[in-house]
Amino acid sequence: VKSLRRAPSLTGAAAPLPLPIDTPRLRLREFLARDLPAVRRYASDPDVLEHVLREAPTEAQLQQQFERLLRARQARPRRAWELAVVQRRGERLIGTCELVRLGRSEAELGYMLGSRYWRRGYGTEIATALAGAGFSCLPIERMRALVDVGHDSSRRVLEKAGFRWCAHLVRHAHAKQRWWDCDEYELRRAEWAVRRVTPAAR
Ligand SMILES: CC(C)(COP(=O)(O)OP(=O)(O)OC[C@H]1O[C@@H](n2cnc3c(N)ncnc32)[C@H](O)[C@@H]1OP(=O)(O)O)[C@@H](O)C(=O)NCCC(=O)NCCS
Repeated sequence: VKSLRRAPSLTGAAAPLPLPIDTPRLRLREFLARDLPAVRRYASDPDVLEHVLREAPTEAQLQQQFERLLRARQARPRRAWELAVVQRRGERLIGTCELVRLGRSEAELGYMLGSRYWRRGYGTEIATALAGAGFSCLPIERMRALVDVGHDSSRRVLEKAGFRWCAHLVRHAHAKQRWWDCDEYELRRAEWAVRRVTPAAR
């Protein structure tokens, strides 16, 4: 679940995120114009969207969103990185993930995989790598993620990546004809740094 709260514009210098970001099995890279057919395969899947605020896009909306995403790569200062998730072996695009700066010292994390690729540990790999890249390269103190209540796999992904529950947000957003209660998870820089030195038992 992505936050509806958006940060005021950043006044600091553009903070780069070194791309691509490689995990043991995945590559998180900028989207390319040729990626649209692969995005189409998961972006309208009702199973994938069950715990996501946004509705399934029409074809026209999908194309507009994709063009916006490509343009966003040029933003300076850049505060949002929506990245393609690609299997390193075979280079198949299997989903997307996102890091968005919220103000000066926070960022928010999100991820979405095609349902064929669930339960292989990819979500955990993505969240761990994105949090690591964010803390390594951006001057942020806190990373957060919002999860629809009852979205157990996403909660577990965050816990395995070192996040901990910090708030229950009642009626956080209204979307798809209902109110959404969400749980907020956070990872603070100091906790991430300790974890990096001493990886937590999984
Ligand atoms: C959420 C999502 C990214 C999880 O990715 P994933 O690659 O399946 O997650 P992982 O394989 O890393 O699994 C992480 C943990 O969740 C558990 N898990 C996976 N699916 C589960 C389910 N349906 N119910 C309960 N636990 C589940 C796994 O067993 C694993 O825990 P374990 O190692 O203790 O066994 C994926 O389901 C997805 O893309 N969903 C659609 C989009 C979405 O909802 N995004 C998140 C919005 S907040």
